[in-house]
Amino acid sequence: MRYVPTLERLPADVSKVDSEFSISVIEGLSRAQKELPCRYFYDARGSALFEEITRLPEYYPTRTEAQILRGCASDLVEDFRDGDLFIEFGSGSSLKTQILLDRVAARIVYVPVDVSETALADAVMRLAVRYPGLEVRPLVADFSRLTALPRDLASRRAVGFFPGSTIGNLAPREAEILLSSFRRVLGKDGRLIIGVDLKKDQQTLTRAYDDAAGVTAAFNMNLLSRINRELGGTFDERAFVHKAIYNSEQGRIEMHLVSEREQDVRVCGRIFHFRKGESIHTENSYKYKVAEFRDLATRAGWQAERVWTDANNLFSVHELA
Ligand code: AVJ
Repeated sequence: MRYVPTLERLPADVSKVDSEFSISVIEGLSRAQKELPCRYFYDARGSALFEEITRLPEYYPTRTEAQILRGCASDLVEDFRDGDLFIEFGSGSSLKTQILLDRVAARIVYVPVDVSETALADAVMRLAVRYPGLEVRPLVADFSRLTALPRDLASRRAVGFFPGSTIGNLAPREAEILLSSFRRVLGKDGRLIIGVDLKKDQQTLTRAYDDAAGVTAAFNMNLLSRINRELGGTFDERAFVHKAIYNSEQGRIEMHLVSEREQDVRVCGRIFHFRKGESIHTENSYKYKVAEFRDLATRAGWQAERVWTDANNLFSVHELA
């Protein structure tokens, strides 16, 4: 039998539970511009659809970031020392982490942080097989609410890892706040390795979020099925269409679900009215120039160190200290 560490839960995370989803949905659908928080995309079906997105020919971020990481992995891990923490915020399947873990010689402690207990348990099992000597301390927590590490880990040198341009879901001001909170968690001599999608021509961007096979459309639409399934909603999925646009003023891709006709939808005992053509704004994905992101990191209290990009300047990996 192999030792599988128990999943650790932080006190901050036990409180707010399921009712959060219904509260967010009611709140979001009550606004003049209807919106739904993109974190609810990731139920079991949504997570499977996202995995599929990462393999689409049009969706360049995942494979480009992996390619960049393969190129800079040795540089990134060379100063890892025995006992250092390697903390991944929103670790999911921990797949990209393996690119770095494959090169680590020191006896580090890998701390995957994720809200999904099942995703964490899965990842821990796979890592135990692939890296028998690696110490893993999984943490069930919402990284955006993480304010400190468990006591016994708090004094160690820590390197954070936040790949995938997840930071792009936040508006720049919120991104700054999250990066400052990572700074507090990782400590004064901590480092952060973060993947950030870059600004580029509009066609490349919009195609990445509106693929020919319709996987992103299904991913977006799953939010309505999830509301129907979990909150007894009456959304008719055939009456909504997926839309992805690049908002160049804000520097972000926006995803919407557009009502094809005037209609009423019932959710949690409330009726929400839709005009024909009215949309629900479901996601923002902000894009940065390298210099813009370095400025943002600086405002958050970090020092921008090295940065790696691919030959086509599609994606960037930043090292902050
Ligand atoms: C996981 C937030 C990085 O913004 O590209 C992919 C999510 N949405 N296709 C992104 C997403 C539609 C993705 N992030």
